[in-house]
Amino acid sequence: MALILGIESSCDDTAAALYHSKKGLLAQQISSSTALHLLYGGVVPELASRDHIQKLSYLVDLLFKSNQLSPNDLTGVAYTQGPGLAGSLMVGAMFGQSLAYGFNLPFVGVHHIEGHLLAVMLEENRPDFPFLGLIVSGGHTLLVHAKAFGDYAILGQSLDDAAGEAFDKVGKLMGLPYPGGPVVAKLAEQGDPKRFRFPRPLTQKPGLDFSFSGLKTEVNTTIKQLSPLDEPTKADIACAFEAAVIDTLIIKCQRALKETELHRLVIAGGVGANKRLREKLNALAAETGFEVYFPRPQLCTDNAAMIAYCGHERLARGLHSKLGLSIRPRWVLSEL
Ligand code: KG4
Ligand code: ZN
Repeated sequence: MALILGIESSCDDTAAALYHSKKGLLAQQISSSTALHLLYGGVVPELASRDHIQKLSYLVDLLFKSNQLSPNDLTGVAYTQGPGLAGSLMVGAMFGQSLAYGFNLPFVGVHHIEGHLLAVMLEENRPDFPFLGLIVSGGHTLLVHAKAFGDYAILGQSLDDAAGEAFDKVGKLMGLPYPGGPVVAKLAEQGDPKRFRFPRPLTQKPGLDFSFSGLKTEVNTTIKQLSPLDEPTKADIACAFEAAVIDTLIIKCQRALKETELHRLVIAGGVGANKRLREKLNALAAETGFEVYFPRPQLCTDNAAMIAYCGHERLARGLHSKLGLSIRPRWVLSEL
């Protein structure tokens, strides 16, 4: 039996979760500092790390107490080692290592993107290896060939803005609150899909890379031409922008499935919570015969459950970290 505490603090969400080797995910406590950053239209690193310091021990305490457990019940600790904001990572790494040291437990630093990629393993409907992974978050857009646990080849990535970042920037251009992704998606539901059409970047060229900054510029040009925007126009722009991003992601996924001859696709990261993306991929999978797997929306965005799971898998394989300030703010998934 193993019981792993997972800690996530790579950006603006502070989270702690317990993963049990037999029972799976037991519980999670998560708190976002989004409200602190609203004024600035994006995450302010110093505010995020201070907020992690204030919240982490409280959240971990609450996690144990609400499950009638204590650190004495743990068999290991996992924390996000990178990539992410240095100050924020440091808070989680120091907390995790200190707790593990105090209770004489093994601990391991986890790659945040591996966490996203494998969050789907916490679901009943989970894939076997190998599979194709599409990770679409605020910081990353990656197509990955997941060959086995810990063995990932990057097939394509964004050359500029990440998909989530593009959603956030378009939200900002329309005066919507941060993070723009969920708000733009909600607004898009009321939009007229035929009024505007934005490009599907890099889909006409071979290859599996992405580029979303030109799309954002096109959207900005339309916004400037029509400003001040009325509410229906905002919804129509959101709808056309969302369709362009989703089509682009899906075209590249289909291309990668064909090139790799894989037939399982895993969607991960915050943009993976997007309803329209999920609906379209489910329909396409049913039509063309590949399998598509999604974590539940709460496990698409940043969470500690995915870190606890990856930590469990690493510790079970004897992969431990050593005491020390070993955060990796920049860390490529294929280096694992
Ligand atoms: O994975 P995540 O929580 O954090 C990072 O590691 O970046 O992803 C956050 C990103 C943000 O850019 C947010 O706007 C986007 O995911 N996002 C969405 C949706 N929910 C979150 N984008 C589109 N549609 C959504 N429903
Ligand atoms: Zn993330």
